[in-house]
Amino acid sequence: MHPSLFLLLLFPLLVLSCTTFYLPAAAAAASSLPESSHLQTMLAISAPFEHLDPTLPPAFTGQSPKCSVLALRHHFAHTVGSPPASTNYTHPKGCPAPWTRIVLELSASASDLQKDRVAAVWIDGAEILRTSTPLPLAPDTYWRVEKDITQYTALLTRLVQTNGTISMMLENSIAALPGIYSVNLTFHFYRGAVAAAHDARSLGYAAHPTIKSLYRDPADLIVPISHEKGYCSSGGFWFRIDNALHVPTAAVTIPRNAYRAVLEIFSSYHEADKSWYTNPLRSSYLQDHAGFSAGAANGGFRQVYATIDGRFVGGHIPFATIYPSSINPYFWSPVTAIGAFDMPSYDINVTPFLGLMLDGLPHKIGLGVRDSQPYWLLTANLHVWVDAWSDSLEGDLVEYIAPELKISRQAGWMSEDGQSEVLAEGLMQFAGWISSSNGNLTTRVIQKVKFKNQVQVHNRGTFSQVEMVNKEQTTVEVSKERQVLERLQLLREGPLQVQTSSINMNTMGGPRLERTRMYHQLQETVNLNRNQQAATTSTLIDRQDAEGSALMRGGSAEWGSGDTRSIYKYRDERTCYQRTMNTKGGVIVADSTSPSCSSVADI
Ligand SMILES: *[C@@H]1O[C@H](CO)[C@@H](O)[C@H](O)[C@H]1NC(C)=O
Ligand SMILES: *[C@@H]1O[C@H](CO)[C@@H](O)[C@H](O)[C@H]1NC(C)=O
Ligand SMILES: *[C@@H]1O[C@H](CO)[C@@H](O)[C@H](O)[C@H]1NC(C)=O
Ligand SMILES: *[C@@H]1O[C@H](CO)[C@@H](O)[C@H](O)[C@H]1NC(C)=O
Repeated sequence: MHPSLFLLLLFPLLVLSCTTFYLPAAAAAASSLPESSHLQTMLAISAPFEHLDPTLPPAFTGQSPKCSVLALRHHFAHTVGSPPASTNYTHPKGCPAPWTRIVLELSASASDLQKDRVAAVWIDGAEILRTSTPLPLAPDTYWRVEKDITQYTALLTRLVQTNGTISMMLENSIAALPGIYSVNLTFHFYRGAVAAAHDARSLGYAAHPTIKSLYRDPADLIVPISHEKGYCSSGGFWFRIDNALHVPTAAVTIPRNAYRAVLEIFSSYHEADKSWYTNPLRSSYLQDHAGFSAGAANGGFRQVYATIDGRFVGGHIPFATIYPSSINPYFWSPVTAIGAFDMPSYDINVTPFLGLMLDGLPHKIGLGVRDSQPYWLLTANLHVWVDAWSDSLEGDLVEYIAPELKISRQAGWMSEDGQSEVLAEGLMQFAGWISSSNGNLTTRVIQKVKFKNQVQVHNRGTFSQVEMVNKEQTTVEVSKERQVLERLQLLREGPLQVQTSSINMNTMGGPRLERTRMYHQLQETVNLNRNQQAATTSTLIDRQDAEGSALMRGGSAEWGSGDTRSIYKYRDERTCYQRTMNTKGGVIVADSTSPSCSSVADI
């Protein structure tokens, strides 16, 4: 049983007697609960408590790796302002490259109560995982993140050859709460045929069934776009973005025989932008409204984008990954929010621009966030494929259509109540050719974006509703002499709805009881057409519905409870995988997995 359950039991009582709120949650609950509940609470607190992400099928089913290497072990106690934890890697003999698959396993625990933190892992300065810790509501919280990192093979091959460096950043403070985060980072290397639960490669996916299909086979070279002083600087390898005008750059020189390139951007948001997706449009009335801190009110639109030599080359509206302390922390215990353990990265196929970078000279790659407030942490990896049969290639950009997104902003507020809306819409198209030993191939990238974020507040600030619609359709077409060889279409949607009603428990600055309902989804549809064969389609739906209450004081939850229903479903021509998990008051009440989508009800 989860410690928040007793709060659920207590909830009706508290509504009737609002004035008994001042005791810390655990003490109040323990002293007023019947014997049996108290016992269960004790059990929950003494037993380790696992957080989990009920999404992907296990990275490997029943297959043992050729070797597993514990690459980093660290206790993050007080690490604010410190450089990342780093170690030199040594690879065991008898486990040589190439590997058919590589999995990163992050096994972590928190010794005690602590705030949730954002963390990242780097191989020689190239990021391979951006993650958030759960919010440890009890001592001995633990969790595990598994990520298929086969797409980073080039980094691992070099790591093994040069005894390179693994780094991890997790800024933690034990000043306010005692929890120390302990982490083990292990690489699992596989050789031989890979018998996965479902064959993710059937569609040309490099890894798990996500938008990663842009990669196909792992790149030959991965160039980090990150802070060069990362090993010794307190910000690690991250670029910190404080506003929309700040576009940090890294100079990179790529081989003259590169024929394909994809830029992968990692991002996370903090402080004023910690929950940017619920930010209303700035209005003087809102600045002092309890729910929205001053300065955090410039609307819920952001775009993460990249530039090459100062020119915009593509961007994405980020998926609103909800951090474990956001909205209602009890929704995210023990299941995490969508993407919280493995935060989505954003791919931009920059092959159309590659012809401009084949001169053997350094070029500046920049990263920015439109409408950003303090602050965002960004890095990127430039995945590069080279033509081993050529020494240098030729290419050029032949089409560049990148009008500003059409953004409309509207706000109307009367006292605390009112509404605001940001609409964004756009279409961009880039094409370029590269002449290699594969022939003279033209790559065309087309992206359509449609976005809406609406915030409404009624009843003197006690009811609020956020609705977000985010649709992106990206098409990548490769053609030779006007004949289309390959056409890949990715449709990504991330709808979000949050409704909150609150009761002020007493006067100004006192706690507020918030009742929240929310719905969030990540949907990706991939359509691939290669060599005039029949198109293949795959669909991924990751959905969560949650409902519950929390007592909020000064922006953090003092106690609460939540019920969450999670559905993860992946389907393609050959396979279907579904997992459904329901939690009530912090306890898993239903968990069913179907490798064929047969035994569980359809969504
Ligand atoms: C890693 O190796 C370098 C050079 O061989 C050495 O200077 C450094 O101290 C090592 N770092 C660690 C954490 O062992
Ligand atoms: C890390 O590994 C060590 C040694 O195997 C183990 O004792 C410890 O519990 C592990 N820690 C975590 C957080 O998994
Ligand atoms: C890497 O480390 C191993 C084991 O310590 C050593 O035998 C090897 O020479 C090192 N390789 C390089 C390139 O430093
Ligand atoms: C490659 O094709 C493009 C467009 O089809 C053409 O403009 C370019 O001259 C060709 N390049 C070479 C080296 O043939």
